[in-house]
Amino acid sequence: MSASSEAIARRFGDGGPSGGGAEDNDLIRRVLSRKTVRRYSDRMPAEDLLDLLVACALSASAKSDFQQASILRVCDPEERAAIGRLFPAMPWIGLAPVFFVFLGDARRLQRIGEMRGKRIENGTLEGFFNASIDAALAMQTMILCAESAGLGVCPISVIRNEVDRVAATLGLPDLVFPVAGLCLGYPQSEGHVSLRLPRSVTTHSDRYDDGVLQAAIDDYDHRRHALHAIPREQQRSNAEFGEAAFYGWSEDKARQAAKAEGGAFPPYLRAHGFHFD
Ligand SMILES: Cc1cc2nc3c(=O)[nH]c(=O)nc-3n(C[C@H](O)[C@H](O)[C@H](O)COP(=O)(O)O)c2cc1C
Repeated sequence: MSASSEAIARRFGDGGPSGGGAEDNDLIRRVLSRKTVRRYSDRMPAEDLLDLLVACALSASAKSDFQQASILRVCDPEERAAIGRLFPAMPWIGLAPVFFVFLGDARRLQRIGEMRGKRIENGTLEGFFNASIDAALAMQTMILCAESAGLGVCPISVIRNEVDRVAATLGLPDLVFPVAGLCLGYPQSEGHVSLRLPRSVTTHSDRYDDGVLQAAIDDYDHRRHALHAIPREQQRSNAEFGEAAFYGWSEDKARQAAKAEGGAFPPYLRAHGFHFD
């Protein structure tokens, strides 16, 4: 079995494609084996390594070469602690050795327009979306490069739930918004490769067709439960939904999504330069 077949089996629970000659490619194996790590040792990654990872992140593809991602590293211990205190349920936010914030930056292009005497309106949905995607691609590039250097990471979008306070702490101007934070450090615990939905559900050929969804999700729930069952005490919102005899991934995600998150974000964006027209 090739390295990538093993990684695909772990990721999807099925056999994978033969790989067309790329089956032992180290990058591909690493991408297939990516995992989230939330506990880190005290060892601080070297500054040079962090600079290198930032350079990698900013080498990600950028829509129209507009380059609308910015990266902010929170170094000041007081500032870190202030952000960490906002999210007591996620102590890794305050404790990770390194914390970056990936920013969608629609301001820079707006300013470049002013510098060059052109009227630019970048508070549109297009401007917001392009900047968001650039920031997300930069973050994922850092994630994969950090892992390949032996680091563990956890993206943090919960900062958007407290966007007013986070943006004030970070001094974000209009048209600059947090897409997600990123905790980073040397892993203390292993983490695990999470089983993904079967590709029969998440890929389509020629026409979109989700006819197999229900049966595939039921099967996925049971396979995932056998590998990493969600403990009874981690069932969400039992007071509202009751204790489930079988609590699979889809029950967990349906309960999670039934509690709307991110309500503070649209008014924040509208108050800070975006109109989305
Ligand atoms: C955009 C994004 C935002 C996330 N935000 C958080 C977060 O706020 N807190 C957290 O603990 N994990 C966060 N995560 C990690 C996910 O919960 C994690 O990716 C998910 O459980 C799947 O695990 P895996 O990435 O190891 O496959 C985030 C992941 C992504 C991609």
